[in-house]
Amino acid sequence: MRKRIVAGNWKMNMTPSEAKKLVEELKPLINGNGDTEVVYCVPAIDIPIVSELVSGTGVSVGAENLYFEDKGAYTGEISAPMLVDAGVKYVIIGHSERREYFEESNIIINKKVKKALEHGLIPIICCGESLDQREQGITMDFIRQQIKVALLDISADAVKNLVIAYEPIWAIGTGKTATSDQAQEVCGAIRDLIKELYDEDTADAVRIQYGGSVNGGNAKELFSKPDIDGGLVGGASLKAEFADIVNA
Ligand code: 13P
Repeated sequence: MRKRIVAGNWKMNMTPSEAKKLVEELKPLINGNGDTEVVYCVPAIDIPIVSELVSGTGVSVGAENLYFEDKGAYTGEISAPMLVDAGVKYVIIGHSERREYFEESNIIINKKVKKALEHGLIPIICCGESLDQREQGITMDFIRQQIKVALLDISADAVKNLVIAYEPIWAIGTGKTATSDQAQEVCGAIRDLIKELYDEDTADAVRIQYGGSVNGGNAKELFSKPDIDGGLVGGASLKAEFADIVNA
């Protein structure tokens, strides 16, 4: 039985003082020890205050990125050991915004996945097609390539424990959610791919989230699909509505 997982991706929002206010507002609304795992993936500078505030609530803290070296002359980057020391459990890797604005390739994403696993961080690996790709009918070709490269040299045991987030680019921040059938179709195909690359046990264990304009109104329908194990939530994770999504 896979435990559902709902993660907020705050992106580049929330100063530390705003973060404190939001986490305090969400505290009475979200039970981090319920049947859904809850994660706040926050900007690096917010990690200390958020870690402190969620301590003992069952909610986990995630980062939005990491670098694939342990330390050294990489001005501006954050390493896996730094995240671990600050109390981080999850890390988003390969978000479409990082692929687009920071030119992250599938190979870089694979290096980051390896580095995260080496230090015991759980990767949330993002994939998803653009509108053009969907219209050209190459959605699954594109996603298969993203996942196959992201998982190069990653063992079945590691894959069982990680999270894959399917986020169609056309649904991110647009208010245009994929229908639950569209989301299920791709999440199911991702699970089939994991079975093909590994085995049935691994495919049954890996958790697959849907992301892209998830809100309090559509979460229940999306999360009711057999291959959708929760959501990666952007805009709606910045307000009390996030609790409705978790509770869905
Ligand atoms: P929105 O929920 O704002 O569409 O963002 C989705 C996303 O990119 C989460 O990683």
